[in-house]
Amino acid sequence: MSSVVVITGSAGLIGSEAVRHFAALGMDVVGVDNDMRGYFFGADGSTQWNLQRLVKEVGDRYTHHSVDIRDRDGLDRLFADLGSNIGLVIHAAAQPSHDWAAREPFTDFDVNAVGTINMLEATRRHAIDAPFIFTSTNKVYGDTPNSLPLVELETRYELPEDHRWYGGIDETMTIDNSMHSVFGASKVAADIMVQEYGRYFDMPTAVFRGGTLTGPGHSAAELHGFLAYVMRCVMEQRTYKIFGYKGKMVRDAIHSHDLITAFEAFHRAPRVAEIYNMGGGRFSNCSHIEAFKIASEITGLEARTEYVDQARQGDHQWWISGTGRFEEHYPDWKLTYDVPAILREIYEANNEVWKA
Ligand SMILES: NC(=O)c1ccc[n+]([C@@H]2O[C@H](COP(=O)([O-])OP(=O)(O)OC[C@H]3O[C@@H](n4cnc5c(N)ncnc54)[C@H](O)[C@@H]3O)[C@@H](O)[C@H]2O)c1
Repeated sequence: MSSVVVITGSAGLIGSEAVRHFAALGMDVVGVDNDMRGYFFGADGSTQWNLQRLVKEVGDRYTHHSVDIRDRDGLDRLFADLGSNIGLVIHAAAQPSHDWAAREPFTDFDVNAVGTINMLEATRRHAIDAPFIFTSTNKVYGDTPNSLPLVELETRYELPEDHRWYGGIDETMTIDNSMHSVFGASKVAADIMVQEYGRYFDMPTAVFRGGTLTGPGHSAAELHGFLAYVMRCVMEQRTYKIFGYKGKMVRDAIHSHDLITAFEAFHRAPRVAEIYNMGGGRFSNCSHIEAFKIASEITGLEARTEYVDQARQGDHQWWISGTGRFEEHYPDWKLTYDVPAILREIYEANNEVWKA
């Protein structure tokens, strides 16, 4: 088996978890990340701290390249050098925020859509047999989930138990005729292109449409990183702004570890042009109100929130991922972290750093 894994966004939440995981499996990891998260979200967002930690922990198995995924020629040179040694590509670099995208639509599209075709083409030219994993998003479904017949409960919105998507929304939901946000639209372009390279060029590509992805590797910023930012606000006694839906909007949360074990399963038994909704599902989900309650219990601190009676444009009122398709293809894969376990770990990992 070819021994190199190329990971973009390697200093980010998902990328860094992937670096550690595949290095521990004995693969050489080539990381691509230019710390553009710092440009998107300012100092809170920079992933430089995570990169330094990675380099120290992973040692010689890790090589870092500060290449911009918009730099087509730079990527091509990198892939040409590694050639058929590449056994796996994980593309997790992105402009990841809904709200930020509208500030600079060109930058968002260039990173998310054009950056993805740059990665696909470099892979096709130099490592066509390598499984190609792309981190897409549930925002490809736009705001269609908001048309579900939700009922309001004390701390959350919920679907009736007899609804076919009570256990989670599956991949048959339409991606058309809805508001996606500029970010959602650039991810749709990338998502479809990854599928197309699978079908058209017969490459082993997979699109993972994530719900909320989280874990201690998140550089928590207001515009991105829900649970990490909840915990950071409680620990630092910052005020968290809740936008709309009375704080009862529901998110499912998957720990980066559980996502990466799904990537490993795909890597071991790749398929062509797959799409998977991927998240914490029924096992791991919460509303904002519920997340703050758990964070307060863990820290012993009161949460400070401010309610803004205006939901973010295109934001989901309720999202729980239906992971049945992935579980059918990979029956040995299991979720291991639920929301309280995720929040506790974020708390413990940042105890020394985030202080009031
Ligand atoms: N975190 C979530 O809740 C979530 C949910 C659904 C989908 N996703 C997707 O998962 C992927 C990973 O998300 P994450 O939470 O790890 O994000 P992240 O911001 O923590 O990591 C992304 C990394 O990519 C780097 N990067 C950005 N632009 C780059 C560029 N032009 N060239 C090179 N590097 C660049 C950033 O510096 C950052 O370190 C993204 O595609 C995101 O859209 C995330």
